[in-house]
Amino acid sequence: MKVARSLIGIGFGLLALLPGIGGAAEADDSVRSLSAWTNQRGSTLYIDNVSASGQLTGTYINRAAGFGCQNTPYPVTGWVLGNAITFTVLWRNAVQSCNSITAWTGFYYQGRITTLWQLVSNGTTSPGQIQQGQDVFTRSGKAEAETQK
Ligand code: BTN
Repeated sequence: MKVARSLIGIGFGLLALLPGIGGAAEADDSVRSLSAWTNQRGSTLYIDNVSASGQLTGTYINRAAGFGCQNTPYPVTGWVLGNAITFTVLWRNAVQSCNSITAWTGFYYQGRITTLWQLVSNGTTSPGQIQQGQDVFTRSGKAEAETQK
């Protein structure tokens, strides 16, 4: 009986190590350096680097209708923790400033990064002025991330 229990324990341990079955292992493999992710509005997050401690750097190109600061890259900073992700854009670059900041928070699951975002403008004085929404990103290829610079 003891031997049977040990064998079952070892079996579950091995299953957890297999990529795709252990959730965290899959997530760590997927939100990674030199990947590009496009959302339902046509905007793209280019992840240049995710450090060993989870710090994310990259650029973001906004192509969402109804918003400013479109079609030029803005720096992104953020964090990845297993399948959890958060990243932020200050909408100011050499081309245009929109005097605003967006923060996205979400998770990687089954090939998508699903996020909720908040957009705050400089001068905001009440919570109701903070715009919010949902963005879902799907992978748009490593090659794109490497060639967009
Ligand atoms: C601004 O208009 O103040 C700056 C651009 C904001 C673009 C927003 S951020 C959330 C949403 N998702 C996108 O990809 N773009 C818009």
